[in-house]
Amino acid sequence: MTPSADDLLSRLKLQGAVPGHVAVIMDGNGRWAQRRNLPRTAGHQAGMASVRGLTEAGIQAGVSTLTIFAFSQENWQRPQEEVDALMALLQHYVATQSAELTAQGVRVRVLGDRSPLSAHALKAVEFVESETEQGRVLALNICISYGARAELTRAARLLSEEVAAGRLAPADIDEARFAERLYTAPWGDPDLLIRTSGEFRLSNFLLWQLAYAEFYVTPVLWPDFSREHFFEALLDYQRRDRRFGRVVNE
Ligand code: FPP
Repeated sequence: MTPSADDLLSRLKLQGAVPGHVAVIMDGNGRWAQRRNLPRTAGHQAGMASVRGLTEAGIQAGVSTLTIFAFSQENWQRPQEEVDALMALLQHYVATQSAELTAQGVRVRVLGDRSPLSAHALKAVEFVESETEQGRVLALNICISYGARAELTRAARLLSEEVAAGRLAPADIDEARFAERLYTAPWGDPDLLIRTSGEFRLSNFLLWQLAYAEFYVTPVLWPDFSREHFFEALLDYQRRDRRFGRVVNE
C-alpha cells in the first residue's frame, strides 16, 4: 500500500530537519495537457491548482521559503496566445488566492524583471505583495519574467553604479555583497531544488543560488504533483549527506 500524505508527513517530522528553502521548477504542464488532448493552457490551469497544493504542503512540512519558477524571460517568446493565457492565469491566481494566502500567513513576493509586464499584471503583482505583506508562516517567491543570467547581470550593474558613484570600492565587492543585489537576497539560497517532468536542466533558474542545493528530479508532470510527491522529495532530501565541498569526518 502506498503511504498517505499524512503518513509521509509524520515520517518527515520524525526523520530530521526539513529544508528551510525549497525551489521548484514546475515543468510538464504542456505535456500533461497534450496527453489529454487538451490545449496547453488547460495544463497551466491544472498547474495552478498544484501551486495551491504545494503552498499548503510547504506550510504543513514547516518549510519557511518556497521559490517557484512560473514564467521565464524566455517564455515571452511562446505564442502570444499562451503568453496571454499564462498572464491571465497569474492575475486570476492573485485575484482568487490573496485572501486565502493572507489567512494562511503566506507572504508573496514576485521576483524578476517587471518592465515587460502589462499594467494589469503589474497591478496584480503589487496587490498580492502588499496584501500578504504581514505573512510570517511561509515566504512564497514567484519568479515571473525571471532569468538567472539577467539577474546576475543586473547585480553586476547595480554594483558598478555604486562604484561609479563612489559609494563602494571595487576591493569591497565580495560574494556577500554580490548576493545582496540578487532578487533572493532576503531569503538566501535554496537547500533543495525540485524539478518535475523528468528533465535534468537548470533552465536559467537561480544559477548563483543553487550552487550547493540538492537536486531532486521526478518524472511526475507538474499538474500531477501532489502533497505526497512533495513530502517524498523532502524525505529524500533528509537522506542526503550535504558537505558543501568539505570533507565530513565519520
Ligand atoms: C512549464 O510547463 C510551466 C510553465 C511555463 C508555467 C508554470 C505556470 C504555472 C504552474 C501556473 C501558474 C502559476 C502560478 C504561480 C499561479 P511547460 O509548458 O514548459 O510544459 P511542457 O514542457 O510539457 O511543454
